[in-house]
Amino acid sequence: MVTVKIDGIEVQVEPGTTILNAARKIGGEIVPPAMCYYSKLKGSGGKCRTCLVRIAKNSAQNPNPAPKLVASCSTPVADGMEIENITSPQVLDARKGVVEFLLLNHPLDCPICDQAGECDLQNLAFEHGTAQTRYEFDRRTFEKIDIGDKIQLHMTRCILCYRCVYVADQLTDNRTHGIMNRGDKSEISTYIQNVVENDFSGNVIDVCPVGALTDKTFRFRSRVWFTKPYDAHRNCPTCAGKVVLWMQGKDILRITGRKDEFGELENFICNTCRFDKKNASDWTIEGPRHIAKDSVIGQNLQINEKKLSNKVPDYDNKQRLLS
Ligand code: SF4
Ligand code: FES
Repeated sequence: MVTVKIDGIEVQVEPGTTILNAARKIGGEIVPPAMCYYSKLKGSGGKCRTCLVRIAKNSAQNPNPAPKLVASCSTPVADGMEIENITSPQVLDARKGVVEFLLLNHPLDCPICDQAGECDLQNLAFEHGTAQTRYEFDRRTFEKIDIGDKIQLHMTRCILCYRCVYVADQLTDNRTHGIMNRGDKSEISTYIQNVVENDFSGNVIDVCPVGALTDKTFRFRSRVWFTKPYDAHRNCPTCAGKVVLWMQGKDILRITGRKDEFGELENFICNTCRFDKKNASDWTIEGPRHIAKDSVIGQNLQINEKKLSNKVPDYDNKQRLLS
């Protein structure tokens, strides 16, 4: 094991562990944000630069700092290494710059985007973004593309993180789509349409950190924070069958995989579970899904719970005043 310090907190990890995963072992606010890295997808990371950190001390043998900031998702730790994330003004400033770059073309259409409330870029912009953009050129825009009957690609929102490409590549036998062209001409190729042919294509929706790939069976039906998430499972011959049901009353509005504290899927789920099992009787409901209190969804759940607990006294009070 090697010992490293991140923002002054010591942790022991296996040699070869990346700085990001060492930080995840500590957990909490010192974990750098990650828009493209996904621990379950081989080769992911190194694309978005949101996870930049400062190496203040290279190792026990080499106490010098690294000459520039490094991507924590693809930089391995060394024994005695000291890393700064939220304690470094330089890192916070660079992250601000990265967010500005990510938002050069990404529209701020959160009010009409289905991903709002659970969008990594929305959270990142909220924490590190600036109110104004300095960009003076035309933003690149694309027509929305229906990629089959269940998934819609809105390329204008894509940040080219490659996660959906890795899902299609690594979860299924055929590589069916990728990113075409280079620079600001890069785009997800429309032959992603082939992806809908396989049982696991719907996972591209869950791994997409923004609202570029959305579930057409849920689009515009509700804001996520007006739905209540429940853990549920079924005996599925294709996948683990462990999902989250997003419900409004007795109606299942959408089904997703279960995400961990870092926003990554615990299990990839099949399209039958995701799209075709929308009756509560299809599922064994385990109980309410734990949602982080500080997320938009968590906040709304708390408000609703407060409303419910206030309802009876309010009602009684009204009756008393009326009588
Ligand atoms: S569509 Fe989503 S998951 Fe795919 S590259 Fe774009 S942002 Fe990433
Ligand atoms: S998460 Fe490290 S570069 Fe994107």
